[in-house]
Amino acid sequence: MSIRIAGTGSYVPEKILTNADLEKLVDTNDEWIKTRTGIAERHIAADDEACSDMAVAAARQALDMAGISASELSAVIVATTTPDHIFPNTASLALDRLGGKGAFCFDLSAACSGFISSLEAAYALMCTRSQYRYALVIGSEKLSIITNWSDRNTCVLFGDGAGAAVLENTADAGPNTILAADFHADGSLGSLLTLPAGGSRQPATAATVAAHLHTIHMEGRETFKHAVNAMTGACRTVLETAGVRAEQLKLVIPHQANIRIIQAVSQRLGVEDARVFCNIAHYGNTSAASIGICLDEAVRGGRLERGDLVLLTSFGSGLTWGAMLLKY
Ligand code: UT7
Repeated sequence: MSIRIAGTGSYVPEKILTNADLEKLVDTNDEWIKTRTGIAERHIAADDEACSDMAVAAARQALDMAGISASELSAVIVATTTPDHIFPNTASLALDRLGGKGAFCFDLSAACSGFISSLEAAYALMCTRSQYRYALVIGSEKLSIITNWSDRNTCVLFGDGAGAAVLENTADAGPNTILAADFHADGSLGSLLTLPAGGSRQPATAATVAAHLHTIHMEGRETFKHAVNAMTGACRTVLETAGVRAEQLKLVIPHQANIRIIQAVSQRLGVEDARVFCNIAHYGNTSAASIGICLDEAVRGGRLERGDLVLLTSFGSGLTWGAMLLKY
């Protein structure tokens, strides 16, 4: 058994929202946003473009690169906080649109940690049962619909998009792509980053809509602190587990939440900027999509070759966090 990443893909919507555009919506400015977050622009989905539409666009590229059709997939996992519907799950809808049928489909809710959590879940399935020959993992988010466009603390941060990867279990004896992984959660800190209403705890009413309780609420400074410590810890654990030193890493792909978080984590790990993948300037924080988009850009841009060691790490609502070491 040898499990590897056979293909990657990504998609961002056409419409770009710049910092200058945001200056017209809230009391903010380009300099604050760039220096405090590293973001210059983000992509915003069209009104009729849902989570599954972006998921399908990214998945098509990943399937093409893998050289397989959707009918060959035995599992599809969509990581998202903005599914098309509460049910049916977005994974089933995406598989249908891709032309596949019958695969094990589910959505995974781990916010920004969703993409690497889904890679871990797909990998675990493939290790357990040989019937999972090809698994499709997608992170897709339409965060623009859960953004409070009158709250400058959050509306400058997020963007829409999707990233995808196909995992293949080749029959050959050989090395696996995922060398080590480490995942955690702490629900006692759930209120730091939450979408308060719309679930069974606080169902939708006219009052919850008026109070903006269907949009992202975040205690930024506190979340920042936890993000740096948690990602650094998880990265150290996977490196130690795999017996790999930071100098051996070709690339670190961190979740794109804030350039200052990315720099703080990479400095603590002793990895210089040139080996840290960063595209936050153009996309902002796309939550579950961010690592998938980065991975695809790194592969297509020639920054990752087969056999390279790459460290993925993420942090998000839950709180959830983790790290994963790949031999690409
Ligand atoms: O993806 C999941 C995980 N997410 C994260 O990890 C995000 C973590 N948090 C962050 O990235 C940062 O905390 C933020 C970018 C959200 C905020 O940056 P900060 O350096 O922590 O700023 P702050 O919240 O401490 O606010 C500093 C000042 C405040 O003004 P006063 O009280 O000092 O007068 C804010 O009101 O900056 C003000 N401010 C803004 N000013 C201009 C907050 N947002 C803005 C804005 N434009 N958009």
